Amino acid sequence: MRSKVRFHLNGELHEVQHCPPTLTVLDYLRNECRLTGSKEGCAEGDCGACTLIVAEAGSTGTEYLAMNSCILFLAAIDGKSLISVDGLALGDGALHPVQAAMVEQHGSQCGFCTPGFVMSLAAMYQDHDQQPYSRENLNLNLAGNLCRCTGYAPIVRAAEQSLVSRDSTLVKELDQRVTTELEFLESDPPLSVEGTNGRVFAPRTLAQLLELRKNHPLATLVAGATDVGLWVNKDLQTFDTVIHTGAVAELLEISKENELIKIGAAVRLRDALPELIRHYPSMRDMLERFGGAQVRNAGTIGGNIANGSPIGDMPPALIALGARLELHSLESRREIVLEDFFIDYGRQDLKPDEVVSAVLLPIHDDGQFACYKISKRPEQDISALCAGIFMRLDRDAIEEARICFGGMAGTPSRAGQCEKALTGKPWRRDTFESAMQALKEDFTPISDMRASAAYRMRVARNLLLRFFIEHDVPERRMQETSSVR
Ligand SMILES: Cc1cc2nc3c(=O)[nH]c(=O)nc-3n(C[C@H](O)[C@H](O)[C@H](O)COP(=O)(O)OP(=O)(O)OC[C@H]3O[C@@H](n4cnc5c(N)ncnc54)[C@H](O)[C@@H]3O)c2cc1C
Ligand code: FES
Ligand code: FES
Repeated sequence: MRSKVRFHLNGELHEVQHCPPTLTVLDYLRNECRLTGSKEGCAEGDCGACTLIVAEAGSTGTEYLAMNSCILFLAAIDGKSLISVDGLALGDGALHPVQAAMVEQHGSQCGFCTPGFVMSLAAMYQDHDQQPYSRENLNLNLAGNLCRCTGYAPIVRAAEQSLVSRDSTLVKELDQRVTTELEFLESDPPLSVEGTNGRVFAPRTLAQLLELRKNHPLATLVAGATDVGLWVNKDLQTFDTVIHTGAVAELLEISKENELIKIGAAVRLRDALPELIRHYPSMRDMLERFGGAQVRNAGTIGGNIANGSPIGDMPPALIALGARLELHSLESRREIVLEDFFIDYGRQDLKPDEVVSAVLLPIHDDGQFACYKISKRPEQDISALCAGIFMRLDRDAIEEARICFGGMAGTPSRAGQCEKALTGKPWRRDTFESAMQALKEDFTPISDMRASAAYRMRVARNLLLRFFIEHDVPERRMQETSSVR
């Protein structure tokens, strides 16, 4: 066991003794290291001004991920390498190509957002997964960076200037340095801080995690901290004991067996995304609009379920597809259908000594599936309403309907009466119109800052109709086809 958090920052080894459980990387940079390049705009992961690069070992080499340092706890980067805007310039003091392009293309006015944009672009510059450059990819990667004064056109021009033809020698040099840094720390034992500031643990195996969970039932589990970070910064909550799940090997696995995908609870949304989209292409739109890149690079699938939010984007889609949840304690393992996890608003079926270990998702090779996300902005916005809809057909009749909404009740919930109005009925518009009416027996939505109750009900009904229209193609009527693979 080891009591110091160890990581590299801009090429230097840092060791932090008695790391406070909720010290953020941004506060460490600005307050402890006096590295003030990264800015604090919102302190809730929304604006991207605090973006930096977290480098870590991936399956195909070192990965470079843009993350929001304002909601990233220092212990979460144990064993990793950080690059902040303060350390981006080249060894001889010359600007990095993305910095130079921002200057040449006039990509900055007040400059508050600029370090964040520069770091998001630098992550793209360095990350081999982002090649070749495309505008679509750029949009995805900059959706989490907000500029209030420059306007985006000069920033896009700076991106194009620097990312279209990268200097591969520069990329390789940084990659070699960072990979050596990561190798230097890879044999460190697991982190276990029990000091004056509180306790922080970062177990490496499920057995270690469960032991810690049993011994510290009041500890806060932290995965990507894209929810927990806000409780600290905005609700000013404090935690004495934090257990990080991000290094637990079993929770990071994605495997496939017997028409089932098993996704570990600590798998980040960015890593789950390709597998989910491969089988359920309809999830692309929703997943690519889940937060911004920085949020998807840190936030996990387990966190999105375990937070119990009624408006989390993943649960409705997963519930509609019949997903199950795996829960582990030191003594036992159990599986439940995902909808049963959500007991009531703020109440989940999770015992004090348990953790969510994985989601088990069936791969349907027949049936129709779609999921929809409704939010005020297309990007970086929490849903007002989301829906997952799955139907299996027997000739022209609806044999099975599984419909789940988020944002319509205190938990993500199946629309039982609506499902009943569809099951066994012919695939026809009038069937769907009856089912749309049945939704009022299933839900009494509330009005809040995201949407009014009337809007929510109307949109829920219309999503059902949209599902019918989108899937009502002649080939489908001729025979059962599959929109899922
Ligand atoms: C700017 C921004 C945009 C966002 N956009 C979206 C969005 O578009 N859609 C959306 O759904 N959400 C969004 N979120 C919310 C958040 O990103 C997601 O809920 C995310 O999936 C949480 O995952 P995490 O790993 O960060 O969870 P954490 O914050 O680490 O944890 C969340 C909760 O889950 C618990 N937990 C974590 N892992 C486990 C485990 N293995 N077992 C038991 N409990 C566990 C924690 O104790 C905590 O209670 C956004 C957040 C931000 C800051
Ligand atoms: S300060 Fe706004 S995302 Fe971190
Ligand atoms: S330059 Fe002012 S916020 Fe972007």
